[in-house]
Amino acid sequence: MAHHHLLPLLLLLLLPLFASAAATGDEAHLSAVIGDTGLAFAKDVLIGEAVRSLTPLRLPGAEKAFRVPFLGGIRAAVSNITLFHLDVGDNSVVRLGDSALVVVASGITANISMAWSYSYYSWYFPVEISDRGTASILVQGMEVGITMEIKNYNGSLALNATQCGCSVKDLVISLDGGASWFYQGFINAFEDHIRAAVEKVIPENIIDSTSKLDSLLQGLPRSVSLDNVTALNMTFVNDPLYGNSTIEFDINGLFASAVVKTSNLQKHPQLSLSCGGASNMLLLSLDEDVFNSALEVYFKAGSMHWVVDKVPDQSLLNTAGWKFIIPRLYWNYPNDDMVLNISMASSPLMRITSEKIGATINADMIIDVLHGTETVPVACISVIVSASGVVEASGNKVYGTVGLDNFSLSLKWSKIGNFHMSLIQGVIRVLLNTVCMPYLNSHLGNGYILPVVHGFTLKDVHVVTSAEQLMLCSDITFANASRLAALPVF
Ligand SMILES: *[C@@H]1O[C@H](CO)[C@@H](O)[C@H](O)[C@H]1NC(C)=O
Ligand SMILES: *[C@@H]1O[C@H](CO)[C@@H](O)[C@H](O)[C@H]1NC(C)=O
Ligand SMILES: *[C@@H]1O[C@H](CO)[C@@H](O)[C@H](O)[C@H]1NC(C)=O
Ligand SMILES: *[C@@H]1O[C@H](CO)[C@@H](O)[C@H](O)[C@H]1NC(C)=O
Ligand SMILES: *[C@@H]1O[C@H](CO)[C@@H](O)[C@H](O)[C@H]1NC(C)=O
Ligand SMILES: *[C@@H]1O[C@H](CO)[C@@H](O)[C@H](O)[C@H]1NC(C)=O
Ligand SMILES: *[C@@H]1O[C@H](CO)[C@@H](O)[C@H](O)[C@H]1NC(C)=O
Ligand SMILES: *[C@@H]1O[C@H](CO)[C@@H](O)[C@H](O)[C@H]1NC(C)=O
Ligand SMILES: *[C@@H]1O[C@H](CO)[C@@H](O)[C@H](O)[C@H]1NC(C)=O
Ligand SMILES: *[C@@H]1O[C@H](CO)[C@@H](O)[C@H](O)[C@H]1NC(C)=O
Repeated sequence: MAHHHLLPLLLLLLLPLFASAAATGDEAHLSAVIGDTGLAFAKDVLIGEAVRSLTPLRLPGAEKAFRVPFLGGIRAAVSNITLFHLDVGDNSVVRLGDSALVVVASGITANISMAWSYSYYSWYFPVEISDRGTASILVQGMEVGITMEIKNYNGSLALNATQCGCSVKDLVISLDGGASWFYQGFINAFEDHIRAAVEKVIPENIIDSTSKLDSLLQGLPRSVSLDNVTALNMTFVNDPLYGNSTIEFDINGLFASAVVKTSNLQKHPQLSLSCGGASNMLLLSLDEDVFNSALEVYFKAGSMHWVVDKVPDQSLLNTAGWKFIIPRLYWNYPNDDMVLNISMASSPLMRITSEKIGATINADMIIDVLHGTETVPVACISVIVSASGVVEASGNKVYGTVGLDNFSLSLKWSKIGNFHMSLIQGVIRVLLNTVCMPYLNSHLGNGYILPVVHGFTLKDVHVVTSAEQLMLCSDITFANASRLAALPVF
């Protein structure tokens, strides 16, 4: 089926944040819960992106003048100070506050290069003495912390970096070129300047990046189109819910233009409980209303009808095949071909329980006889089918299969007299099993692509059902780091 694009859900991972307007009365039908391993994953992706965007980082140069008694003045300068390498290592954590995420990375090392110059002039010497060279600076024990608040702003997520700090423990300057040993002392006087510059410029750049991230989040589409008929309402409702090690984001999740009954049940899926304790990163929970709203949109768009003119046993579509079941059909239209015009009498209904996913399909089947050039509707049978199915997932796709449970028949109208439904039960069962179910399964079997941000792949997806909800528990892999950089994020 169609293309699905950016899914805010996974973006959340990237940017620990989420916002949802305090739109009271709004109901979430789709929830994403990010677990501790998911948060750790998001943190690592964020840090990777931050490092990528921070390097190279230009720091301001400086100049100092020293007065040396009896000798004169010395002027020293450092310029072209470039932080070109950051090594974050494994020493980073993500913590959840009441309404914010805190990421702290410590033990960071950084490499900085710079140019230095020196000049000395005095009344005693007729010529100015000067020298220049480059220096490499190793920064050790750097710690960076950021607090990000995620809010719901008018149905979108808004991210605000409320605090960001950086502290540098050690800084070692090694000069190359010139009479380095001689100048080392003067250049060391710039240590404080460089330290202060790093501690100021890094947080400024991170905050700048998070505001870009914020714009990206707020610009996320409010609806994700499935095809030209319907679109998923991606409006965020409620504020994100912070657990001890999880964050839950609630999304309207209904298909647009559908009118759906809403229950007042407040369901807050819990990652550890719902996924049976598996250490999955992400839990996506979808109400049965999400599916029912989609079915209703398709039903109302009139796209649920189907004319059957080919079946495996083609004799079923000739009045001769019904000779002994409905003799009058045969006698009125001997040896005429037939088609079955099937349409939905109402929107199909899905019911999800912890045991199974069930569906009730209420269809009208009109038997059309092709008599000469005429199409003659001769009877209409109401077919109510109970089916149940399983959902599986692989990669970013979900697949389904359905099977027939039971069905009931009733005659709506007939131009060929009354005939008892028990007579055609067998034929209808064959049709359902050999035509209708395979038809449905061929569609469901193609799979539906989950709207996941490019570069991310769901891995080891488990499908779990509970009362009125379908849940996907999944790990996430980030396939291609360069793709994220293509997003206007950092
Ligand atoms: C989408 O969901 C929001 C929040 O529940 C709701 O206010 C809005 O009307 C919905 N939009 C559509 C097109 O249904
Ligand atoms: C600044 O430093 C970079 C890398 O160390 C070097 O490639 C560049 O030529 C320097 N620029 C100037 C103006 O010295
Ligand atoms: C950073 O500096 C350290 C120590 O001087 C050195 O071992 C390392 O190779 C440097 N890294 C880069 C990328 O230049
Ligand atoms: C809130 O969102 C709606 C729907 O996207 C938009 O039309 C409206 O301008 C937004 N309001 C504000 C104050 O941003
Ligand atoms: C972001 O947080 C700062 C500090 O708490 C606050 O002053 C500012 O108003 C916040 N900005 C937004 C858009 O919420
Ligand atoms: C939707 O797309 C399908 C296939 O691309 C096309 O057959 C159908 O006419 C389209 N419907 C509308 C309402 O545009
Ligand atoms: C959260 O942590 C507190 C204190 O450590 C604990 O009492 C509580 O049971 C935890 N809640 C959950 C849902 O794990
Ligand atoms: C199928 O039946 C519907 C009414 O239920 C009718 O509108 C439609 O024209 C019929 N289609 C064919 C091909 O007979
Ligand atoms: C199928 O059987 C179940 C349980 O016996 C029943 O509740 C349901 O109404 C039946 N469905 C149909 C279409 O007859
Ligand atoms: C990652 O994405 C870039 C740019 O889209 C592409 O050139 C590269 O081949 C991709 N690498 C992999 C391993 O998919």
